[in-house]
Amino acid sequence: MSMSAPVITVDGPSGAGKGTISHMLADTLGWHFLDSGALYRVTGQACLIEGVSWDDQPAVTEIARHLDVSFSAAASGEILVAYKGQDVSRAIRTEEGGRGASTVAAIVTVREALLSRQREFRRAPGLVADGRDMGTVVFPSAPLKFFLTASAEERAERRYKQLIAKGENVSLPRLLEDIQERDERDSSREASPLIAAEDAIIIDSTASPIAEVFQLAMRKVEEKGLI
Ligand code: DC
Repeated sequence: MSMSAPVITVDGPSGAGKGTISHMLADTLGWHFLDSGALYRVTGQACLIEGVSWDDQPAVTEIARHLDVSFSAAASGEILVAYKGQDVSRAIRTEEGGRGASTVAAIVTVREALLSRQREFRRAPGLVADGRDMGTVVFPSAPLKFFLTASAEERAERRYKQLIAKGENVSLPRLLEDIQERDERDSSREASPLIAAEDAIIIDSTASPIAEVFQLAMRKVEEKGLI
């Protein structure tokens, strides 16, 4: 049953709107949702909590293999993420959380350790999977794959507005630098680099409002006969 549940994969660099589009698709279709980035973020955070350096490959791999992570929905609809029962939802979304995730995500054995855990999310009636290698490695047989992208400047600007709205004190040039560094690390790593699957539909959202991107994605869902 689970192997036959359809999957829609949404891959792309940070800040391209993947999270928003994936959530909208999962909500509209009534499907499950996998935020694979959160698994890498929790792995990075677990290292900080356990006093393990992000570069200590064997120790980070052990953490990923036994990662005690749980997801739950708050009354507000927000997804809460816990490590060993401790709420890490906010900590994993900081810039440091992003750096840790990107660093541990470059370790092949960490990616292997998290593979089966990601595939367990594939359940009826379907799954929307958000990440970097959903269409290429984790769910290569998915019937519908999107690769969402936008210029680094536009992504930095979006992130800047989000963080300012949350009351965080951030610098736009610093954010752009962080995004460019992370793009470089995610695209140049040997293990599952960030690339579009051959059969992915590539959407550049630099100049498109999210509503337009969502409409386009829903048209593709209909064309594929997934609703
Ligand atoms: O999507 P995100 O920003 O939460 O991802 C955080 C980091 O995790 C990102 O720098 C790359 C990594 N990642 C990955 O390598 N593979 C995935 N499927 C998802 C995220």
